[in-house]
Amino acid sequence: MSFLKQIERRRTFGIISHPDAGKTTLTEKLLLFGGAIQEAGAVKNNKIKKGATSDFMEIERQRGISVATSVLAFIYKDKKINILDTPGHKDFAEDTFRTLTAVDSVIVVIDVAKGVEEQTEKLVQVCRMRKIPMIVFINKLDREGKDAFDLLDEVEQKLGLRVVPLSFPIGMGYDFKGIYNIYEKKINLFSGDNKQTVSEGIEFTDISTPELDEIIGETSAETLREEIELVEEVYPSFNKTEYLEGNLQPVFFGSALNNFGVKELLDCFIEIAPSPQPKKSEERLVDSKEEKMTGFVFKIHANMDPNHRNRLAFVKIVSGTFKRNSPYLHVRNNKKMKFSSPNAFFAEKKEIVDESFPGDIVGLQDTGNFKIGDTLTEGEILNFKGVPSFSPEHFRYVNNADPLKSKQLFKGLDQLMDEGVAQLFTLDLNGRKVIGTVGALQYEVIQYRLEHEYGAKCSYENLPVHKACWIEPENPKNDEFKEFKRVKQRFLAKDKQGQLVFLADSAFTIQMTQSKYPSVKLHFTSEFNIQ
Ligand code: G4P
Repeated sequence: MSFLKQIERRRTFGIISHPDAGKTTLTEKLLLFGGAIQEAGAVKNNKIKKGATSDFMEIERQRGISVATSVLAFIYKDKKINILDTPGHKDFAEDTFRTLTAVDSVIVVIDVAKGVEEQTEKLVQVCRMRKIPMIVFINKLDREGKDAFDLLDEVEQKLGLRVVPLSFPIGMGYDFKGIYNIYEKKINLFSGDNKQTVSEGIEFTDISTPELDEIIGETSAETLREEIELVEEVYPSFNKTEYLEGNLQPVFFGSALNNFGVKELLDCFIEIAPSPQPKKSEERLVDSKEEKMTGFVFKIHANMDPNHRNRLAFVKIVSGTFKRNSPYLHVRNNKKMKFSSPNAFFAEKKEIVDESFPGDIVGLQDTGNFKIGDTLTEGEILNFKGVPSFSPEHFRYVNNADPLKSKQLFKGLDQLMDEGVAQLFTLDLNGRKVIGTVGALQYEVIQYRLEHEYGAKCSYENLPVHKACWIEPENPKNDEFKEFKRVKQRFLAKDKQGQLVFLADSAFTIQMTQSKYPSVKLHFTSEFNIQ
């Protein structure tokens, strides 16, 4: 198969949702369709249980499982589908944000009864900022939920999307009869009382025909006609270019658990979703069709076995063909490296591969050379953009609890931060280290891993910080910036990249600081200088 054909057939995407909306169930159903797994329940184990707010043993177990499910690849209708797993647990949101830098599109799952939830809002906001093409799947139609039009309004308002329904439910909950597929002009009905069997799609190019009344009953047929008329009046018609540019989001309805509406979603997805896209680097835009290999690390996974401290770095191939045993330049270290056993991922297993193409993810064994955001090339100096840090939600001083092990502590902290477990800030004033995390859970994970993998002990001390703000002075030499630095000295720190950060203790402080020093911009992400 030609190189270009290999690129064209790849679809690399992520599924995002608020926990419990049905992400795992949908992933599993997609894998079943692709023949990648034989039975439901196979992916389920990857979920961090709802109650596990501080069970780090559980986290350790999950870490092992999630290597296997980090990338789920399968072939469907000759397309190579790569699903990148995004943790639903909010304490791991940072991991999800980073994974979003490696996808070419996303599917957003929403629970029909709960509507748009908090975690979905945050994740969609990141996708919108990056103009990632999105398809919305409204799930659990077998249950009573919100009115379809109300829900579409909510999606538009809360998520700031411009939606176009490509399917529409016929009834809901107890009365859920099936789905009208607007995209293909077909009706799919549930058959049988258990709502587990799905009929073959019946084609309806014109839903005004009396045949519809016979099949779904007069009342339902009338309602459906009115609803579809309204859909056509109110919503724009589907336009693939607008979807690909991130300006229009198709919506599907269904029930992942009952396998309903999933095939329609997948069939439409492989047709409209983008193949690997060009990616911006600091130096230039890199096209996936370029022959020279380029790629970047978006995730690092530590080994479960504390005796072998090797890790797995996940690299997204941006362009060219990644070949086993070929020398590649590790740009940050300016070092040539060869990889004798790159892993590719298939459904639930990983195996060594000789060649990988743009859109694919390869797992590279690493003994500490990589950190998140690193770029590999065939020699060109390129630095891919867009693996940002976001302001953590929790901040604590980290203290060394065993003075004889300070070397181990710093090494451990350094490596865990490279893995992206949390963020480390160093206070300008006294050099004290502050760990910032998205969820409180990470502090236990860090403490546990420092002890078990590095033989170091740490303790924490609370620090009342509301947000970390990355600082962008209009002019680093002007008096206003100098004054800002002098007054805020106690709250200034450097992140791991050496960027200056203001640790603000409240939203009010941020507001006051902005109005007092208008030429000093404060950002909640380290990636503010990237369009
Ligand atoms: P998540 O990964 O987004 O967190 O959600 P997950 O797929 O685990 O689904 C959360 C719960 O919702 C599960 O039930 C799942 O069975 C259920 N669910 C998913 N899709 C549908 C659907 O289309 N209809 C209905 N009625 N339920 C659905 P659970 O009781 O939490 O877990 P389990 O005991 O079923 O494993």
